[in-house]
Amino acid sequence: MTDGDGQLEARLTEQEVFEPPEAFTAGANVSDPDIYEKFEEEWPACWESAADLLEWESTYDQVLDDSNPPFYEWFTDGKLNASANCLDRHLDERGDEVAIEWIGEPVEEANRSFTYAELHREVNEFAAALRELGVGEDDIVTMYMPMIPELPIAMLACARIGAPHSVVFAGFSAEALATRMNAADSEYLITCDGYYRRGDPLDHLDKANEGLAGVEHDTSTVVVDRLSDNGDDFGHELTDDQYDYADLVEDHAGAEVDPVTRDAEDMLFLMYTSGTTGQPKGVKHTTGGYLSWATWTAHAVLDVKPEDTYFCAADIGWITGHSYIVYGPLTLGTTTMMYEGTPDYPDRDRLWSIIDEYDATQLYTAPTAIRAFMKWGSSFPENHDLSSLRLLGTVGEPINPRAWKWYYTHIGNEECPIVDTWWQTETGGMMVTTLPAIKDMKPGAAGPPLPGVDVQIVDALGEEVEAGQAGYLTVQKPWPGMLRTLYRNDERYIQEYWAEYSDTESDDPEDWVYFPEDGAKIDEDGYITVLGRVDDVINVSGHRLGTMEIESAIVGVEGVAEAAVVGGDHDLKGEAVYAYVITEDGYDGDEGLRERIIAGVEEAIGPIARPEQVVFTPDLPKTRSGKIMRRLLENIADGDELGNTSTLRNPEIVEDIQRQVQG
Ligand code: PRX
Repeated sequence: MTDGDGQLEARLTEQEVFEPPEAFTAGANVSDPDIYEKFEEEWPACWESAADLLEWESTYDQVLDDSNPPFYEWFTDGKLNASANCLDRHLDERGDEVAIEWIGEPVEEANRSFTYAELHREVNEFAAALRELGVGEDDIVTMYMPMIPELPIAMLACARIGAPHSVVFAGFSAEALATRMNAADSEYLITCDGYYRRGDPLDHLDKANEGLAGVEHDTSTVVVDRLSDNGDDFGHELTDDQYDYADLVEDHAGAEVDPVTRDAEDMLFLMYTSGTTGQPKGVKHTTGGYLSWATWTAHAVLDVKPEDTYFCAADIGWITGHSYIVYGPLTLGTTTMMYEGTPDYPDRDRLWSIIDEYDATQLYTAPTAIRAFMKWGSSFPENHDLSSLRLLGTVGEPINPRAWKWYYTHIGNEECPIVDTWWQTETGGMMVTTLPAIKDMKPGAAGPPLPGVDVQIVDALGEEVEAGQAGYLTVQKPWPGMLRTLYRNDERYIQEYWAEYSDTESDDPEDWVYFPEDGAKIDEDGYITVLGRVDDVINVSGHRLGTMEIESAIVGVEGVAEAAVVGGDHDLKGEAVYAYVITEDGYDGDEGLRERIIAGVEEAIGPIARPEQVVFTPDLPKTRSGKIMRRLLENIADGDELGNTSTLRNPEIVEDIQRQVQG
């Protein structure tokens, strides 16, 4: 649990169960309870039902090729194109319906809607332009863009010509951009001049240019002009290898680009995510398996229908936005909404005013946002008509029952099911959650695994734990949306996700178990409560940050000798970054150094990794063998009882640190 009184709350609410609201169940996409049994019996053929939601140029030979675990292949030899699935297939019937409804942050700015026909046109034009710039099949194109329509347009244009994209969250730093472009040898960048945050224009191109300066090879960059229509401008001049997006699209007006035939196993995109080492992991997702997974889960769990106006309030810079703003919803032919700004601008009712105005039918967001809404108070949603909502969802971190109930009551009016969806960048889409028309909801528990998904909670030896016991979440069988490898690093792929519970010498798929590095427990009904990461990864507001990445940023600051970073409980963010720092001789742990440390972290990673607290200490608690006791530092950050510290090499340091944290 992430809230202070979490354990008490969990006990009080243990028995609480909510049935799927009747208003919802009648029209749901998936309502046959036999689906669980059927998928188990028919595994892996059950996944044809996911593949069937796509349009294939030529059908596949085999649903699953598991002859070389853990390098599984799905829908082998099937041919398709993701952009054709998101666009072309809808033109006849839904060409004039809205595909993307975009809302900018400035309230006075008009929204921008793209019908399927309009989106198709612009994607084609931009695809033609990218080709002319030299982008070929399998060239990796990096996107460093905020929530503007040109981001999904660029993704789909790349998908159309078979060029995998690698989207870097716009809030990441220049250095993070450079690291990712270098790691992928990406020669193309699509970015923009700026965007709006809480009423002010932000200079984004400056940061992108700084990142490009750190890229080791030649690059071409496309720059979208986001600001000048609103009269804002940072006076950037484009260089010789930089192209204006609007000019490129205009130069290719009316162009049509045939969607490139891609193999089901061809890469659709790369997404870099944090791991336990400093180097981000390039998660590889494929065209057939990923797209069918994002689409099937959007259909079955989010209950997306073509006539919906579906709102996922995530950022496309993260996997949630890839799967559940862009690929899943567009493949299903619905209207997907995009909002550029923050939920509290110009006031704390912005999301509710958007839902009210556009009659949004689903809302999918993160617990961190829900906790903020709860803190701001129910008067903000109460001033709006939210009766268009049919379903609510959460993702990214555990949701505490109190926030769950607030969401259920104040946003869903007790008429919308809530799907608490557990999954990861690596899984491509949802894995553990209730099917909303079939399963009862238990606040705090994500739910049972989806049909056809084989999750077990095991102990350190890989044996299943009893109901109620804490253990490790594992996935015992492959699934279509799974990552295929870490880009150019098959060995790390095996080490990071499989080695823990698999017999890595075996070629029998039964001997291979996927380990997502989460702790969890399961109850008698098979409902899983995810307890959080068990590796050195912190989950801040639903976003993954590696402690090593942050530590290496901090030790890079002049005056720092050593640093240990841990996650501590935080009311709103779930977890927050706590940094314990030993200064170099001759330096004081003063305000100046604290500021430089914070700036160093923001520069290396981005403001999202900003430490909540920087604690200067003459030493770190260490075991006799010299290992830093991180668990103890976490307990200190959380204000927990510490237990016996006498086995430490330096027990006297503990009180000192505690005093500072509480101070
Ligand atoms: O620890 C789990 C947590 O978020 C991690 C995945 O982070 P990321 O790859 O950034 O993807 C976030 C969006 C899918 C998981 O390993 N997590 C995600 N969803 C939940 C969750 N923890 C508890 N409950 C969830 N519903």
